[in-house]
Amino acid sequence: MKRIGIIGSGAMGNGIAQVCASAGCEVLVYDHDPVALEKARQQLSAILNRLLAKSKLNDEQAAAIRQSVRFVTAMDEFADRELVIEAVIEQLDVKQRIFTEIENIVSLDCVLATNTSSLSIASIASACNRPERVIGIHFFNPAPLMALVEVIPAVQTWPDLAAKVRAWVESLGKLPVLAKDTPGFIVNRVARPYYGESLRILDEGIADAAVIDHAMVSLGGFRMGPFALMDFIGHDVNYRVTESVFAAFFFDPRYKPSLTQKRLFEAGYLGRKTGRGFYRYTDGGLPEERANHSLYHRSDPQLLERIFQRVLAMLINEAADALHYGIASKEDLDLAMTKGVNYPKGLLKWADEIGIDSIQQIMDDLYDVYREDRYRLSPLLRAMSKEKRTFYGHKNERDDGT
Ligand SMILES: NC(=O)c1ccc[n+]([C@@H]2O[C@H](COP(=O)([O-])OP(=O)(O)OC[C@H]3O[C@@H](n4cnc5c(N)ncnc54)[C@H](O)[C@@H]3O)[C@@H](O)[C@H]2O)c1
Repeated sequence: MKRIGIIGSGAMGNGIAQVCASAGCEVLVYDHDPVALEKARQQLSAILNRLLAKSKLNDEQAAAIRQSVRFVTAMDEFADRELVIEAVIEQLDVKQRIFTEIENIVSLDCVLATNTSSLSIASIASACNRPERVIGIHFFNPAPLMALVEVIPAVQTWPDLAAKVRAWVESLGKLPVLAKDTPGFIVNRVARPYYGESLRILDEGIADAAVIDHAMVSLGGFRMGPFALMDFIGHDVNYRVTESVFAAFFFDPRYKPSLTQKRLFEAGYLGRKTGRGFYRYTDGGLPEERANHSLYHRSDPQLLERIFQRVLAMLINEAADALHYGIASKEDLDLAMTKGVNYPKGLLKWADEIGIDSIQQIMDDLYDVYREDRYRLSPLLRAMSKEKRTFYGHKNERDDGT
């Protein structure tokens, strides 16, 4: 698939266009808003100039990319496309309308993809007469820098299409993972406890944001603590994803949003972009609290360890449950978290290192204290512990004594 059409020239559409053109595809970008289209053209040009200045591209390569991307004001121009990727606003009715329209423009064998982060692929595909050619291709932001791409076939999707799309994603130099069409796919589902459990610890007054961040960074090796990360993502985006995953899972308490975060969202304290979230940001963009190192030194090491173990156990439990329900393979689950959100290790590999029994113990202790369904252990972990299995080896070496 070399002739690509992209609908929506926002942050994602434009980034995906750059990725495709850099890999030798010929790309048309359409947006219904001429101002957005012009902005995207200028942005792409500025990015290419920056890459040239940094010698990450030579003149020839930059010229080739410029020539390969054409911004168009009518979708009719997409008649000869082999693959169309939709990246418009995250609204089901808008996306469905676009799929109905584009289906009548392209040829019968053109693949239609959506970059949605939270809507079901099945619901988008249902707008088409031939839903079997519809699939999710979920790039991460910023698309040119993030290696991971989730490939999500819908229940209607032609069975061989996922393999074809996976190979196409690889041809872009990206790392595809295959995910089931379930809320949050892999990354936005498995990462939820990083935010949710940290917020719960904060809400219970066990520790403040800076201490929890410190625990996850210093003991876990995460690049950013959960609160600094939520401030970075923006509470509008992060809260809405949490709310949508919670609703889409029929209000499973494991994904319950936090009122504390909702209030920040309502107050317009969206994080770094508004200068205030959990932290206050000075001109340089760094949280003021960071300067206060004494805060960390005062933290009780046992408290830090408890926080880290609790959040990590919840993350591992989520990843194990995703495996239990066949959302993705264990390799893809681990790849998704290391490449999609830069976790220091794959969660299932981490589980093997810590020991399945230890994870079981932490989860069961939490369940004993709270008696909430939120802390239920994945049946897969319980079975593995009983049978002394690990994710990547057969036997649990710790219990073997080997
Ligand atoms: N921003 C992210 O971090 C991110 C990451 C992965 C996936 N996504 C998904 O990618 C999609 C796009 O996100 P974004 O951040 O680029 O949004 P954005 O708001 O930056 O851009 C959306 C673009 O779509 C255009 N648009 C809206 N309605 C249209 C229509 N009917 N026809 C043609 N163009 C239309 C808008 O003019 C705008 O330029 C969403 O589905 C989002 O969930 C976003």
